[in-house]
Amino acid sequence: MLTEKTLLPTRPEHVPLAVFAHRLTAACAVAAEVAGLIRARQRQGRTAVLGLATGSTPVRFYAELVRLHREERLSFANVITFNLDEYRGLTAGHPRSYGRFMRRHLFDPVDLPEAQIHLLDGAIPDAAVDAHCREYEEKIRAAGGIDFQILGIGRNGHIGFNEPGSARASRTRLVALDPLTRRDAAGDFGGEEYTPRCAITMGIGTILEARRIVLMAWGRDKAGPVRAAVEGEVTIQAPASFLQDHDRVQFVLDHDAAGALTRHHPAWRSGARENHDSAPARRMIRRGAAPGAEIHRA
Ligand code: GLP
Repeated sequence: MLTEKTLLPTRPEHVPLAVFAHRLTAACAVAAEVAGLIRARQRQGRTAVLGLATGSTPVRFYAELVRLHREERLSFANVITFNLDEYRGLTAGHPRSYGRFMRRHLFDPVDLPEAQIHLLDGAIPDAAVDAHCREYEEKIRAAGGIDFQILGIGRNGHIGFNEPGSARASRTRLVALDPLTRRDAAGDFGGEEYTPRCAITMGIGTILEARRIVLMAWGRDKAGPVRAAVEGEVTIQAPASFLQDHDRVQFVLDHDAAGALTRHHPAWRSGARENHDSAPARRMIRRGAAPGAEIHRA
């Protein structure tokens, strides 16, 4: 039987993806899938364990989850969350901390019990960092592992704060930030000299253990790293390329972020029509998520 996996070697794309005309529709599609998981687990009397990302990319996704909570009674009472990363040196209350970001965009507006929120502590003393990272991994295991991991992608192809050079087997740990990452973050901190040099992040090995992974990317700035991750070799130079090894990963993109993919090359487009109505596309549309989705993975 032909499966998606057996078809992959004949395609330029090594991961399933969904391309949307509008990023808002894309973010809502992902939120609909997550809401479906949360509700299914509620019916079974089980928890749903979410791995969460920060940055500008998932803001609309969180806004849609909040809307579903307010208008469609989506409860987060059975949800357990683990955030991907935190800047080193920032206290949980720091206005630029990822902890604050999460409270503002998701935790405060919904009914998620405080005890079910897990954040990395950027301000933990040096001597306690390793133990903190080990405990974080243990808490993920004790929760039964991550059911659904949300990711963005950095301009250098990082996921979480796993910068180029991060090993596939890496676990939660303290890392030095790449100069490009610091430059990109400088605006938030009022200049590069005030931007943290380090962070604590879940590892690539940690991320790959999630049962489902969705990476969202919008805008032209992400087209290069998306292409490297989707069509390139698996390499430590492009950390997101390690996602090619995952069985249930999907990249959810807007047109601009998909703009450098081979499928947009005129020669490929003319021969690739039969691939557009793919199984991942139909699945997302069935979830009620994708009226604006137009092309899905080869
Ligand atoms: C930071 C975060 C990543 C995020 C990336 C992209 O580096 N640690 O998790 O994916 O930024 O950010 P943005 O979504 O703002 O482009």
